Amino acid sequence: MKYVAIDHETDFESWRNRARALALNAIPPDEVIWTVRTGTAEIFEESLLPTIESDVTFRVAPAFIELAQDAILNRSPGRFALLYRLLWRLRSQPGLLEAATDADVMSVQKLVKDVRRDEHKMHAFVRFREFGKGKDARFIAWFEPTHYIVEKAAPFFERRFADFLWSILTPDRCAHWDGHKTMFTEGITKSAAPSSDPLEDIWRTYYSSIFNPARLKIAAMQKEMPKKYWRNLPEASLINSLIADAARQSQTMIDREASSPRAAVQHRASAVPMTGQTNHSSESLSRLRDEAASCRACHLWKDATQTVFGEGPQHAPIMLVGEQPGDKEDIAGKPFVGPAGQMLDRALEDAGIDRTKVYVTNAVKHFKFVPRGKIRLHQKPNAPEIKACRQWYERELASVKPKLVVALGATAAQCVFGKITQIGKNRGHVIDVSESLKALVTVHPSYLLRLPDEDAKLREYRQFVSDLKLATAYQK
Ligand code: URA
Repeated sequence: MKYVAIDHETDFESWRNRARALALNAIPPDEVIWTVRTGTAEIFEESLLPTIESDVTFRVAPAFIELAQDAILNRSPGRFALLYRLLWRLRSQPGLLEAATDADVMSVQKLVKDVRRDEHKMHAFVRFREFGKGKDARFIAWFEPTHYIVEKAAPFFERRFADFLWSILTPDRCAHWDGHKTMFTEGITKSAAPSSDPLEDIWRTYYSSIFNPARLKIAAMQKEMPKKYWRNLPEASLINSLIADAARQSQTMIDREASSPRAAVQHRASAVPMTGQTNHSSESLSRLRDEAASCRACHLWKDATQTVFGEGPQHAPIMLVGEQPGDKEDIAGKPFVGPAGQMLDRALEDAGIDRTKVYVTNAVKHFKFVPRGKIRLHQKPNAPEIKACRQWYERELASVKPKLVVALGATAAQCVFGKITQIGKNRGHVIDVSESLKALVTVHPSYLLRLPDEDAKLREYRQFVSDLKLATAYQK
């Protein structure tokens, strides 16, 4: 038996060098015990690990390296052995990674999925608190990741909070951004992390103002925001009391809706942030949503806060397709809740369409932007990004089976028809897509927001409402 120690928990290079040496010396996986370097393991390794010629090497598929680099960040103690077993088998079975039912392949994919999910949770649930004033101000967050993801997650915070000095403290590693680069130091205990908190009240006020009791689904909420994260979220201290109060608040909202025709539309703009919760109940849509949460089909996920999936009833007769989430949608995790969403709500109402009865989604499900100081400037998605994301639209379509799809703007039309489709030439009439599906093309609501001239705004708004009115025939 060979005892092999790698240098530290996430040292991929160290694992790779040792795995290569073992494989080249034909030492099979069941004769190797992997461990992380400690005194005793080191002694065993020094005496037993075979040496190899430095110029001897072999190649494995880049896809394996990519999986292994993420899998090694999983806290599972068996990961080094699993990866070596895969490496060993890949040498004689180069297509192994495509064997979706192979136990080792499934295990490595599960490790990777858990790491990526944890990274996504870290992006969503880190809460910075401000310490110091003026040029000495620093934003500090305490976070407890499930896996060893601090280094992997850090570039997101570098891009997102480039203008601030920040530190993220965790029990494994701490990340410190100085405005140019991130430095990593050893982990610390929670008691060593600073705890005074001027920003917590702001988070709590924000959260309670957007909490919507009528849309409360505790199981879904806990799935997206598992309880283990609550202790470090300032707003979490409100959750129990808001849940307890939800039934009473819902009744108040129902009573209010009876006397206020705009209320239904207005409350759509509210959202529980970062829970991914929707008001549909379908398993299949929720499975799609879960899968889309870790979509890496293009690069846009890297800078976005989260995937913004569609929402609405499982069997909505009408599906509205926008371009991509904006800044507000990226944070709330819901489509059309920002300024374009308010314009859309108004026009739908004027057209006689109940937004709660239609399914609303986007052609591209991650926010694309360039940072400009503290602002994130919207960028139009390009053709490869639209194409990479189209699978989700197709799967939403297959799941919801609407009678009519409404494409809002050029990007949506490109997604719906699978090719560049001009709005001016195609708006104003219903188009057959297939025997069971019709489509309508109109402008994007943000086009109306951008028009500088009030007359043009009014004219275009009327035209937009008149296009949407064509959809009312498909509401039932
Ligand atoms: N614009 C879109 O196309 N979709 C949104 O969800 C928001 C703004």
